[in-house]
Amino acid sequence: MSTYSSNRGFWRGLTLGVAFFGLTLFLNLLTLRPGVRGESIAVSKAEPAAGKPLPKLYFGSKACASAGCHEKGQVTDPPLLCRGDELDRFKAHDRHADAYNAMTGKLGRDILKRLNLGEPQTATDCLACHSVNIEKGATKHESFQLEEGVGCVVCHGAHERWVGSHSLVISRSAFRILPRETKESDYGMTDLWDPAKRTALCASCHVGNQEQGKFVTHDMYAAGHPPLQGFEVASWSNQMPRHWQLLREKPKVVQKIQGHNSSVWEESQLMLVGSAITLRESMRLLASHAKTASINGEMLDWALFDCYACHHPLGPRSWRQNQTHPGKPGRVPLKTWPMVLPGMGEKLLGSKEEVDQLTRELENATYSRPFGDPKKIQLASEKIAHWADAIAKSFASQPLDQKTGPKLGSELLKIWQAPPRDFDSARQTGWALLTYHSDEAALGRNINKEWLKFLEGYESGLDLKLKTGRGVRPARGEVANPKQDDSPPDQFHPDGFMGKLKFYLQEGK
Ligand code: HEC
Ligand code: HEC
Ligand code: HEC
Ligand code: HEC
Repeated sequence: MSTYSSNRGFWRGLTLGVAFFGLTLFLNLLTLRPGVRGESIAVSKAEPAAGKPLPKLYFGSKACASAGCHEKGQVTDPPLLCRGDELDRFKAHDRHADAYNAMTGKLGRDILKRLNLGEPQTATDCLACHSVNIEKGATKHESFQLEEGVGCVVCHGAHERWVGSHSLVISRSAFRILPRETKESDYGMTDLWDPAKRTALCASCHVGNQEQGKFVTHDMYAAGHPPLQGFEVASWSNQMPRHWQLLREKPKVVQKIQGHNSSVWEESQLMLVGSAITLRESMRLLASHAKTASINGEMLDWALFDCYACHHPLGPRSWRQNQTHPGKPGRVPLKTWPMVLPGMGEKLLGSKEEVDQLTRELENATYSRPFGDPKKIQLASEKIAHWADAIAKSFASQPLDQKTGPKLGSELLKIWQAPPRDFDSARQTGWALLTYHSDEAALGRNINKEWLKFLEGYESGLDLKLKTGRGVRPARGEVANPKQDDSPPDQFHPDGFMGKLKFYLQEGK
């Protein structure tokens, strides 16, 4: 596949385009631009992709700053959809820029050595999440570097067509006003505004995705990989931290282009749809492992189970002994946090039967024998994945607004009626409440500050603020301050949490 010659042409075009910036007003009237390979591409009339997948091309982050585009807000020709300083924000704060460095640091090297995986740059099992494994048939642009970790195009789409059309002076204003669906289908720019698509992307690394070769095995954990945390897309997007603005924060003219509806509770909507997609992805991961295990007559990888069921301190009395489940005491449960929010959302939609029944089916499959019956687990998890996909569509088609939004709040507050099953489950509700309050605050509604302080603070034990920010952070167990060293999941106690929660709820009244 040809790459460099055509791309040189492309970059020359880009530089020239910027040099003749004054011409843009005139040129923008035209919808034709010189194509990357010399042909002409009509930008306003999207070129039919004719079912053919667009060729993949991996750019490096540098390319996004060439000609001053996503650096220091230098580009100003309207209509500008973004602030033009995304690379600065990314480089300053975003851990994705350190994802490869994690593999070359002390802990990363130790893990690789213990697993005999060789050098970081060839450890494909890790690179799938900590950078990218370039597919067969795809090409690398000269700006691409593995060391950049999870770079811009890993999330935004590794395709030349959108990169070219959206950056060339001659074509970009026409490109900007295209619907985001067209930008994706015809140009290969991933539609990350779609909550379902965004969440599926994040979850592929933060939960796992078998087809994409992304999975943290129990071997990797045992070799030192930190436990993947439960994932919630709205609060995790904020904590990356966001290098973009929410639609409600954007200038009016951009809101119009992007189809912003100001009555919609933007972040809560993302949270709800995202929770169903996260469940779907975790069930697909489980189903594909269960299928392999059942064919090979093996047991499921322990990484799919609740880590803390096996890894917890032993004492004469434990809150775990008081839990009810359909199996015998001592059988290992699966991770349950992905069920929490979609289950609540289903009640919000007015039905409450299906998720409970499906959960029971999966539990029966899991507890019917030690480490579960893979065949039955496969069938049950496929059903839940199917259900989650359908409920994500329902959430997406019924925008949360002034009428339905407050109902979400009261559903979320029902958390205090029954203790959460574990730390990760409690955290899901915690993040959802923060997200909900963020929408409420933006709409000028009255919010309970005591509550927020409790949830976010040290006392709730939920550790809702991730330790984000660039640079090497100490691994768990290597922190000097023993108080912070307490691993929150190990310390979490449902009854203790519930006691404090009820206290703050009362205080807030
Ligand atoms: C399924 C995706 C996935 C795979 C596969 C994966 N990781 Fe990770 N890794 C992550 C995520 C996500 C985090 C951040 C954990 C969090 O905060 O939830 C992480 C964290 C880490 C950290 C800690 C980083 C820090 O700064 O705290 C190291 C080191 C690491 N991974 C190394 C590796 C190595 C080595 C491999 C291969 C043996 C590997 N990872 C495989 C997703 C993955
Ligand atoms: C981990 C995934 C991820 C990575 C990596 C990433 N982005 Fe984004 N980016 C997003 C999401 C999610 C959005 C919000 C939805 C959207 O605009 O499509 C976004 C939005 C944007 C926007 C639109 C800003 C706005 O205000 O609407 C720009 C421009 C952008 N990113 C540029 C970059 C650049 C440049 C890089 C690399 C330095 C980068 N992104 C890396 C996920 C990512
Ligand atoms: C290609 C894999 C990949 C994708 C896609 C991805 N991430 Fe990550 N993410 C990682 C890895 C790996 C880390 C850990 C990096 C490190 O600590 O060095 C990480 C870290 C993070 C962190 C910091 C976590 C912490 O404990 O501090 C947040 C927040 C985050 N990601 C959010 C997101 C969101 C939101 C999306 C989707 C828009 C997303 N990620 C998409 C791989 C990915
Ligand atoms: C079925 C029980 C079981 C489950 C579930 C389980 N583990 Fe383990 N794990 C073990 C056993 C047994 C060992 C080996 C203990 C040893 O070497 O002392 C181990 C070893 C480890 C080790 C290395 C030894 C140590 O304690 O530091 C880590 C880290 C670890 N597991 C993390 C995890 C994580 C993270 C999860 C969830 C994603 C998980 N485990 C799920 C049973 C389990």
